[in-house]
Amino acid sequence: MKKIILPNDFLFGVATSAAQIEGAAQIDGRKNSIWDEFAQKEGAIGDKSNPSITCDFYNRYKEDIALAKSLNIGSLRFSFSWSRIFPEGYGKVNQKGLDFYKNLVYELHRNNIVPNATLYHWDLPQALEERGGWLNGDIIEMYGEFATTLFKTFGDEIPIWATINEPIATYVGYALGIFAPGYKSETKGRQANHNILLAHGEGVKRFRDENMGESKIGIVVDVWNHHPYRKDNIEDIKKAELENEKTYRSYLNPILNGGYTKELLKYMDENKCMPIIKEGDFEKIKQPIDYFGLNCYNRVVDCADENLLKNDLTDKKTGGNFQANGNEFYPKAVYDALKILKNDYKFDKPIYITENGTPSFNEKPDENGEIHDNERIEYIKGFLYWTKKAIDEGIDVRGYYLWSLLDNWEWSCGFDMQFGLTHINFETQFRTVKDSGKWYSKIIKERCFEIGLTEYKNS
Ligand code: GCO
Repeated sequence: MKKIILPNDFLFGVATSAAQIEGAAQIDGRKNSIWDEFAQKEGAIGDKSNPSITCDFYNRYKEDIALAKSLNIGSLRFSFSWSRIFPEGYGKVNQKGLDFYKNLVYELHRNNIVPNATLYHWDLPQALEERGGWLNGDIIEMYGEFATTLFKTFGDEIPIWATINEPIATYVGYALGIFAPGYKSETKGRQANHNILLAHGEGVKRFRDENMGESKIGIVVDVWNHHPYRKDNIEDIKKAELENEKTYRSYLNPILNGGYTKELLKYMDENKCMPIIKEGDFEKIKQPIDYFGLNCYNRVVDCADENLLKNDLTDKKTGGNFQANGNEFYPKAVYDALKILKNDYKFDKPIYITENGTPSFNEKPDENGEIHDNERIEYIKGFLYWTKKAIDEGIDVRGYYLWSLLDNWEWSCGFDMQFGLTHINFETQFRTVKDSGKWYSKIIKERCFEIGLTEYKNS
């Protein structure tokens, strides 16, 4: 057994997002987001559910913050619902919507929980989608107005801000069709991506224009490194490399280095999906950020021969272990991602792990009203182990946010996938803290935990 000790000032949090927990979709002047609309489409959501109620956090936030407090949570990451604040996407503020977030931030402070706010977590107002959404360049200015409204309202009452959560979700919504708004066009996907990167730059610029005291601003990007399945197979290597280009490098390069890589440019050129890039775009995107928000749940293994991979994955032989949910258990993914930031991008400012977590299916309280989600505990331990290793090697990781406080509405998977430290019975809204919640609260208090080392030695 080995004891893993986390620094005293290491921030332990939980991450959430508006569309996934708030509900109250039609209440107090809020209008639909693209996800409310998308959920109505035949076949869009696995269990045919929608986010109109979900965890009912809009009405239960006090109770849920008290719950977070009882679990020793140090920080709550939440996002603003744009269409709650600007039901039409821009123009007149919906005061009741803004008041909800004022009350939320007040309640967090009252409980000594650090608010960490994301301006945009995928839920574009439907009114803006009807004007072309992320494909219409006007959206950058509208996003800027939305951001300025929030900066002026909260200033340094919110110490940690993020412009955008996982810009890749916009690509998925415009290119792959499995997220809102549901287009299937690589060209649209790349253009939407470019515009959301510009919005990020606009957000940072506007932050600097306001009086934000000691508050920090960054962006949240997912870095799940792609590995070739057969380490010496050139086709597998090529495939993994291209995927890395199309995923995290297409964000990290513009944001941190001020341009797309030549490999991505080549890909976009060959596939006729080059976005319109105007002069000055990259200067705008490459605004200095104060910290980086890293989302990392796993690595991805690529094989040029899909069948080979499929067969092997069914046997669960690929390096490392597998969890009961079918996902590979590869906690070194977070260390790899941190090393990418440090070595490939020379990023030397603070980093927060803004999301990490693992899903289960059909998790329910047993006859004693308990949920023994031991696998989730092992998963978190593994990721914290590798995070600590990176800290020991000099990477400035300031905190870790577990996805998520509550079971919630998991986008296209609806309520079928549960990530929470707390189970919710969505018929009664009854909350049950899982074993992982109890364990997390204990390690936050003690700032250490024990592991059996060999489990975490992934290749
Ligand atoms: C994400 C999202 C979350 C998801 C979580 C689990 O960043 O992917 O921020 O909204 O629910 O990742 O899939």
